[in-house]
Amino acid sequence: MKKRTWEVRRMDDVEPVIKVRGLSFRYRMGDTDILRDISFDVHKGQLVGIVGASGAGKSTLCLCLKGLIPHAVGGKLTGDIWMLGKHTREVPAEVLAQEVGMVFQDPESQIVGMNVMEDLAFGPENLEHAPEDIIRRIGPVLSRVNLQDFMHRETYKLSGGQKQRLAIASALMMEPKVLILDEPTSELDPIGKEEVYRTIADLKRGGVTIVLVDHAVEELAEIADRILVLEDGQLLADDTPANHFRHPEIFLEKGWLRVPQVAEAMHGLKQAGLLREDAITPYEQEAAGTLGAWLRGDGE
Ligand SMILES: Nc1ncnc2c1ncn2[C@@H]1O[C@H](COP(=O)(O)OP(=O)(O)O)[C@@H](O)[C@H]1O
Ligand SMILES: [Mg+2]
Repeated sequence: MKKRTWEVRRMDDVEPVIKVRGLSFRYRMGDTDILRDISFDVHKGQLVGIVGASGAGKSTLCLCLKGLIPHAVGGKLTGDIWMLGKHTREVPAEVLAQEVGMVFQDPESQIVGMNVMEDLAFGPENLEHAPEDIIRRIGPVLSRVNLQDFMHRETYKLSGGQKQRLAIASALMMEPKVLILDEPTSELDPIGKEEVYRTIADLKRGGVTIVLVDHAVEELAEIADRILVLEDGQLLADDTPANHFRHPEIFLEKGWLRVPQVAEAMHGLKQAGLLREDAITPYEQEAAGTLGAWLRGDGE
């Protein structure tokens, strides 16, 4: 039988959805480079987390990915970003606006409508989409963020978590292939945070490519395919959560970032000579399995 090689094409052979090469940026008013020689790829359907101290350049990187830098915010940009195969410097901002959705930290500042439906219609109306198209999209979009019963709710009555899910829904109205979320849960209470993470996980399962800046390291470790660590505008590390937290030293050394509690506890056991390094994991279920076996005496 003839070998069907196209079915076993590896991820690495496929052009990434986001490709960043040697990206540096300095704001017009600034006197230092805020991003310095950053390169990474994000493949279709992946979720890449970004962590870093305040001022590390995370939001600036998001603005670059969305094309707001250089189109709306000026400065000196060098290097290249291809978003969905298009060079962000060369393609008009309106094109990127449709294909790349963005959600910011503050839920209040992103709401423009008096009620949910009005809010969702605002973006597409501005781009002169046909009203019947807009209306047709609202129901499915609200289901995707689990707000299906809220179409006529006044926006001021929504909780923080609901507001952030509405902001995600607004982005989804444009049917973006890439979604960038810049600290979407840092102003939410634990319930709101959990709701938003559940929504993000659903979107990931639906095939959306996602860049997620967040400090919530436990949640990020569970959901991210990779985590990028930014420090002073430089990419310090880019790896899977499993690899990062098997050697959590760089996270532990830097005061600004926590390690998932399970990984930290396992790291402690390793330091005490009780656990092998390759058993350390940031995933709770995996850790429970390993520690359970260890306590029963059939581990190490
Ligand atoms: N419009 C601007 N002009 C000049 N400097 C800026 C501007 N916006 C942000 N910065 C500076 O860029 C650095 C990185 O900011 P930012 O990207 O917001 O970091 P983070 O999101 O990681 O906290 C900070 O030192 C900040 O003061
Ligand atoms: Mg920021």
